Amino acid sequence: MARNITSFVCQSCGASYGRWQGKCESCGAWNTIAEESVATTGVGGAPAKGGAKKGRTFALAGLDGVNDQAPRTETQVGELDRVFGGGLVKGSVILIGGDPGIGKSTLLIQASARLARMGHRVVYISGEEAVGQVRLRAERLGLTASPVELAAETNVEDIVATLSEGGTPRLVVIDSIQTMWTDKVESAPGTVSQVRSAAQVLIRYAKKSGAAVILVGHVTKDGQIAGPRVVEHMVDAVMSFEGEGGHHFRILRAVKNRFGPTDEIGVFEMTGKGLREVPNPSELFLAGRDLGAPGTAVFAGMEGTRPVLVEIQALVAPSTLGTPRRAVVGWDGARMSMVLAVLDAHCGVRLGSHDVYLNVAGGLRIAEPAADLAVAAALVSSLTGAVLPADAVYFGEVSLSGAVRPVAQAAARLKEAKKLGFTKAVVPEVARGETGEPGLGTQSVNNLSTLVADIAAAGVGARKPKAVAND
Ligand code: TYD
Ligand code: MG
Repeated sequence: MARNITSFVCQSCGASYGRWQGKCESCGAWNTIAEESVATTGVGGAPAKGGAKKGRTFALAGLDGVNDQAPRTETQVGELDRVFGGGLVKGSVILIGGDPGIGKSTLLIQASARLARMGHRVVYISGEEAVGQVRLRAERLGLTASPVELAAETNVEDIVATLSEGGTPRLVVIDSIQTMWTDKVESAPGTVSQVRSAAQVLIRYAKKSGAAVILVGHVTKDGQIAGPRVVEHMVDAVMSFEGEGGHHFRILRAVKNRFGPTDEIGVFEMTGKGLREVPNPSELFLAGRDLGAPGTAVFAGMEGTRPVLVEIQALVAPSTLGTPRRAVVGWDGARMSMVLAVLDAHCGVRLGSHDVYLNVAGGLRIAEPAADLAVAAALVSSLTGAVLPADAVYFGEVSLSGAVRPVAQAAARLKEAKKLGFTKAVVPEVARGETGEPGLGTQSVNNLSTLVADIAAAGVGARKPKAVAND
């Protein structure tokens, strides 16, 4: 017999307690613990019975076995397949998170339509919008001719029962996991135990049937996928769909991926007719560049296996505040502080009484330390008023001693720069040996002070570099 017990569950991390308390000891959050009643069931959803049950024996297999299924299905949305690691894996469960209105539903209805048009069975379950609303969107995107099967449902048992009839779908989209609920748990949809149990049912269905399931997840204010983190551990891949407010392009990034890389990004542009793939992001990020202004440097970066050129913009201005402002968009603030400290300690560039603003153009977020050199160049350029050459790219990691260290995949970065019409690359000394890109001149710097001296010398005619005292 199922017995109802009450437990107190933290809505932020999923830790459960025997009684209510103000603070979750597991994640330290306040006022996140709520009462939830859970019907006790055994593992796998079977009612827990008294008495010991003898386990069933099962066969064990070796690593070198042959899989009988084609492992992946391409969605034909190239940027999506790139992030998935080459297509949808059978029986896999993918969680896609993102801010409201970023375009998750649009992306998934477009991918569903492509797959369905190739003759695969695709089911799209919306828990947030009525069938009519989904149809309206499809109409706007010109996808009404695609045989996607639609439903507006929220009960996972009903959904699994419906899906089990007919052929196994190649893809099932659940939009969103926070609206789903299961009979087994009594708390409201969206609570930790509901989200976790509903996800469990859907994951079990995916593994058993071989259908790929994509779960849409909402994101909390601080950017985490709402509901328990445990869902992230349960699924095979976690993706986040991001975009800067005001920019029209969107980036799909893998946070976790059991079947592919986590450093690839997919780039899309939101247009009036849905999301458009952007196979060459560099052109997008460099579009509309202000060539004659100081404070901008082009960084030759890598996103996974793909080189991406992006403009780094810096503004350095005398501060009127006691503590000068430091604002960074698209890069790590701590990393910028480090570059400022190295400029101060080893290059005589004093920015202690200046406000410093740094921006990565186009809303891209860079995580690579290879951007250090480009950031330093942009900062010094803004300070001295010296315009950096418009046809030069920069990359290199700056160490605390002021040395410029080599970075990985220099050849791919240079190749992309050449392709986009750049003629000069400022790179670390050691990388010079592998920089055999014909038609692209390389200038090697082994120390940040060399770069500062070069920029300051070029800027003498532009504006007197007062704050730069070369030593
Ligand atoms: P949506 O996919 O509903 O976002 P999510 O599911 O992540 O909440 O996208 C909604 C936004 O996208 C909305 O602000 C309008 C915009 N949009 C377009 O600009 N063009 C389009 O063709 C569509 C369908 C949406
Ligand atoms: Mg939506």
